[in-house]
Amino acid sequence: MFTPEMLESIKKVEATRAERMDHEPRRMTAEEKDSLLKAYHPDYRKDGFAEIKIGPNKGQKAPTELTGLLHSNSRILNEKIDLNKVDYDVDVLIIGGGGAGASAAIEAHEAGANVMIVTKLRIGDANTMMAEGGIQAADKENDSPVQHYLDAFGGGHFAARPELLKRLVMEAPDAIQWLNKLGVMFDKDENGRMVTTHGGGTSRKRMHACKDYSGAEIMRTLRDEVLNRKISVVEFTSAVELLKDEKGQVAGAILLNMETDDYMVAKAKTVIIATGGAGRLHYQNFPTSNHYGATADGLVLGYRAGAPLLYQDTIQYHPTGVAYPSQIFGALVTEKVRSLGAMLVNVDGEAFMHPLETRDVSAASIIRECSDRNKGVKTPIGSGVWLDTPMIEMIGGEGTIEKRIPAMLRMYMNYGIDMRKEPILVYPTLHYQNGGLEINGEGFTKAIDNLLVAGEAVGGIHGRNRLMGNSLLDIIVFGRNAGKVAAAKAKDVQIGTLSLQHVQEYAEELEKADIHTGMVSPQLLPHYARHER
Ligand code: FUM
Repeated sequence: MFTPEMLESIKKVEATRAERMDHEPRRMTAEEKDSLLKAYHPDYRKDGFAEIKIGPNKGQKAPTELTGLLHSNSRILNEKIDLNKVDYDVDVLIIGGGGAGASAAIEAHEAGANVMIVTKLRIGDANTMMAEGGIQAADKENDSPVQHYLDAFGGGHFAARPELLKRLVMEAPDAIQWLNKLGVMFDKDENGRMVTTHGGGTSRKRMHACKDYSGAEIMRTLRDEVLNRKISVVEFTSAVELLKDEKGQVAGAILLNMETDDYMVAKAKTVIIATGGAGRLHYQNFPTSNHYGATADGLVLGYRAGAPLLYQDTIQYHPTGVAYPSQIFGALVTEKVRSLGAMLVNVDGEAFMHPLETRDVSAASIIRECSDRNKGVKTPIGSGVWLDTPMIEMIGGEGTIEKRIPAMLRMYMNYGIDMRKEPILVYPTLHYQNGGLEINGEGFTKAIDNLLVAGEAVGGIHGRNRLMGNSLLDIIVFGRNAGKVAAAKAKDVQIGTLSLQHVQEYAEELEKADIHTGMVSPQLLPHYARHER
């Protein structure tokens, strides 16, 4: 499977292994990290960004592809949609069928609201399902939410919104118990205690996991709960624009049936945007670990309705995406591989960084190794560095890989690579949007009444870089919170006359700014999606 050059390099990795096992590389200083990020992290590449010319974040920068979508016209600008013909009328409309949307739906339903989830693919087709390594919560004796806060605040470059991060860490232990009671099969020891490990940037072992398919197990459980409760789920249907009423409060959404191309009107007293991330926009041509529908739709919907974005210019590139073989290029290699002891090693078998630096620092370090230092391993489609996985078996004992990361083992075995015996090749992959729609401590957007946001579509929970396992956590904490708050709020809301005036006004702003992209947004599917009937 490996090329002759790769096999040559593997010999060097094997030759340095024993020495490396005894001498872990030191952690970088704050100054070293800063200069590394500025020189090599993609967030600092000027040509990857473009200025937003209209709307609440006018004058700020965003990834060029996202700016393009914000500068595009609405899909329904020239459509005749009869707003008097209401197809759905609910208390709480949830846009997105991933972990945040499902958690919100369960809690809103529990509070007695009439809830509907609308999702452009199937419920569970989401980044939640793709998450591998685990979910953080400070629930062991040697840990505390304060410690969790400090780790996440530092890892996010002190930019997290304190009120959001506080909710995240304080409600984490309860989130784990909630999932456990719903039936998530967390890894437990022989005494029934949850097994926890480190992630990059954590000072305590607080990563709870379901082997290396934590997200799939969590999503399976949430989806079952939604279906058991008989919550309405409208699949293969996209929200393409928010609706407001004459008072300017949110009042539902215009939906597009992805199979028939018919538009529908969904009226709602409160709306939760839980549409997830943007990996399938392939910023700066990076491959992605994200699911097929990750096209930043919620950001576009919210922005066009007047909701500001926060930290939209900061993106997480997971340091260890698959660099080789090409069939799985960009797929996630969970950080848990490094938590279990695998080191990052260059073409000459040198460990060039501590394996558990934070993600932005790790990604920048790998990019430096493969560019200016010319110490990457060449592949048929680029380059990468080794993740020395046989170390895991040497540290944890034979069978550790099969027991703790069986999905990884199987993925590589499919291509004839046995990661217990051979290292694997990795390179950063587009993984997470650190920024998104700005919310207040309760979960509401700042500019539009009764509109909430949860999950990856939120900006500000993690600051400018997220630690591993805090995303599975935020979808549960902020999803549950949004569901409860939306249900309570819906009791007091009276919807007036439905309106799409804001869509018209946005088009006028584009015209005034002389912006004509010739595109429509939200994008809904990747640019390489095939549209066949
Ligand atoms: O590496 C991972 O397993 C990813 C986890 C995360 O993004 O939280």
